[in-house]
Amino acid sequence: MATPPDSSGTPTAAVDTAAEAAWQKLDGLDAVSGKFPAPARVDGDGILIFRTKIGFRGVQRLCPHLKFSLHDADLVSNDTMIRCKQHVFTFRLADGRGVNCPGFSVSVFEVKNEDGTLYARRTR
Ligand code: FES
Repeated sequence: MATPPDSSGTPTAAVDTAAEAAWQKLDGLDAVSGKFPAPARVDGDGILIFRTKIGFRGVQRLCPHLKFSLHDADLVSNDTMIRCKQHVFTFRLADGRGVNCPGFSVSVFEVKNEDGTLYARRTR
């Protein structure tokens, strides 16, 4: 990737210009008394919010394999992965990569809890 020169004409280091996604409030979800997984929307996309042992995490609603809902998917590997019940395709919640299904991945979302209000943003 070409880098533009600075004012002295010296090429500058490459800068990742991809802005971090903005946090979006998840209206209607209660982190304390809500039932999870729960549907939500981020950037117009329907997602599911899961409560894991290490906090909340968002995942696209449909499995990328045959589009079954991930609503009843299992959290596995100490809640670090999600496994579709249909054909056990399993995805890492950290980055969405499939672990037993090469070429498949899911969109995943960071979720933060601020005083019971949830916010999410896309991570990949
Ligand atoms: S539909 Fe999810 S693994 Fe096949």
